Amino acid sequence: MKMKKNMMAVCVLMIMSLSVQAQNSFYQQLIEEIIAVINASEYQVPTSTTFAQLPEPLTDEDFHLYGDAQVELGNMLFYDKILSGNRNISCATCHHGQASTGDGLSLPVGEGGNGLGNSRDTGFDADEIHARVPRNAPHVFNAGAKEMSVMFHDGRVFADVSQPSGFTSPAGNDLPMGLDNALAAQAMFPVQSAEEMAGQVGENEVANQASQGNLAGPGGVWDLLAGRVQAIPEYVDMFKAVYADVNQASDINYVHIANAMAAFEAVIWRADNSPFDQYLRGDKGAMSPNQIEGMNLFYGEAGCAECHSGKLLGPADEFKSIGMIQIGPGKGNSLNGYSDGHDDFGRERVTGNPADRYKFRVLSARNVLLTGPWGHAGAYDNLTDLIKHHLDPVLATANYDRSQVKMPSREDLDAIDFTVMDDANRTAPILQSVDITPRSLSDAQISRLIDFLDAATDRKSINLRKEVPKTVPSGLPVFD
Ligand code: HEC
Ligand code: HEC
Repeated sequence: MKMKKNMMAVCVLMIMSLSVQAQNSFYQQLIEEIIAVINASEYQVPTSTTFAQLPEPLTDEDFHLYGDAQVELGNMLFYDKILSGNRNISCATCHHGQASTGDGLSLPVGEGGNGLGNSRDTGFDADEIHARVPRNAPHVFNAGAKEMSVMFHDGRVFADVSQPSGFTSPAGNDLPMGLDNALAAQAMFPVQSAEEMAGQVGENEVANQASQGNLAGPGGVWDLLAGRVQAIPEYVDMFKAVYADVNQASDINYVHIANAMAAFEAVIWRADNSPFDQYLRGDKGAMSPNQIEGMNLFYGEAGCAECHSGKLLGPADEFKSIGMIQIGPGKGNSLNGYSDGHDDFGRERVTGNPADRYKFRVLSARNVLLTGPWGHAGAYDNLTDLIKHHLDPVLATANYDRSQVKMPSREDLDAIDFTVMDDANRTAPILQSVDITPRSLSDAQISRLIDFLDAATDRKSINLRKEVPKTVPSGLPVFD
């Protein structure tokens, strides 16, 4: 810097001794030289360090790939209510093409509710839901990336070569062999959850078996559901065309079903052609100056990439606490002395380590402009507020605007939604657990970050309507 100041002084003296015309051209040259010096100096905006952190572009190598017939079969199964105990909900109810692979709600309404997205209700009479599902339904974009070897907000399903099935999961040794990847392993679970898809004891045999923990045994949850699919000739033909080991209906098992659904999710909801991806592949014009400024903040001053790193802008195997707002019925944790279970200890539920309390998976920051509400309990539906929460969790919690919670109202459900937030003794430990140093960014900088998140959103993901089948082989309704 000292050297540069001296150089400037010499220049100014030289300019003063020149004629006006000569001054002008000299100025021009001088400005160019100064720019060149600044560009070469260490005082420049740190582009070199910034760009060193940018990920390599995503390629086919990064994704599980599948053939068209398996994808098509998975597409049908994913939208077919035949896989739910009471035949009233499909995977797509909570991960719908028309809701950007989520459900548009803070917390999902499981089996018993009617309708989709924001118009979903909590059900009526004997069918009404018993509780809200305690966590936000995450989007499924890029869940078929090989890097996604860990599933769920707390990572309770993950690839693990030490296990016979290849995965650690809540099913332990019950998890069968033959699952293609963690995404397929994940598909074993929603069907056995009473609130999500199975239903309540006494309502149907799937629910009865699920309540007894009979998942893998003869007549268990997976057997019963495979049996339903075996009875539909259109499905049998499709399975035969996809799987070499399916020669007749009785050969179909739930692992075939799970692998097909993973094929659909992986291929159809792959989203790696955003302007940011194009930029990473060398098209420097793909992003606007504001988006580039946002990217530099994301990888620099704003500190986002300290957690949202890697090609997916969220590594599947990292868990952090950002002191997220806890709403809804919770996961039943009571080690902190509260017996109502409305807390959610996050990662600690899997590791048993109290140091992991309130840590949740660092979710991918890709496609987020399409996927609110955000966070493990869907507490934020305003992206600016969510970013401000990251910057200063304590202040954001104090200022939290509850009106952004999006879910159908029912008096008894609403009554417990804010139990944790209403009790300072329960929010304090959440805020004490945070893994971030508070930062202050201007409103303009936050807008630039949102510009970058927009650039990291694949335009192809905006309209997924055509991937929603009009009918499914069971004949059960797809839209309602
Ligand atoms: C009632 C709503 C609901 C239904 C139905 C449902 N899910 Fe989900 N899904 C969720 C919720 C909530 C989570 C997160 C749960 C958690 O992390 O504890 C989730 C998580 C996932 C994930 C993990 C994504 C990630 O980033 O970790 C995948 C993949 C997924 N679901 C696929 C499916 C499939 C396949 C089906 C059907 C077999 C299905 N879901 C049915 C609500 C639902
Ligand atoms: C200390 C690690 C950390 C840092 C730094 C961080 N995040 Fe996050 N972020 C997380 C975690 C963990 C979650 C999920 C929290 C949860 O589920 O409760 C998350 C969630 C998000 C989500 C919501 C994703 C979804 O699908 O719901 C967005 C968007 C996001 N972060 C953007 C940012 C931005 C922008 C920055 C920089 C200002 C940032 N994050 C900095 C850890 C971090």
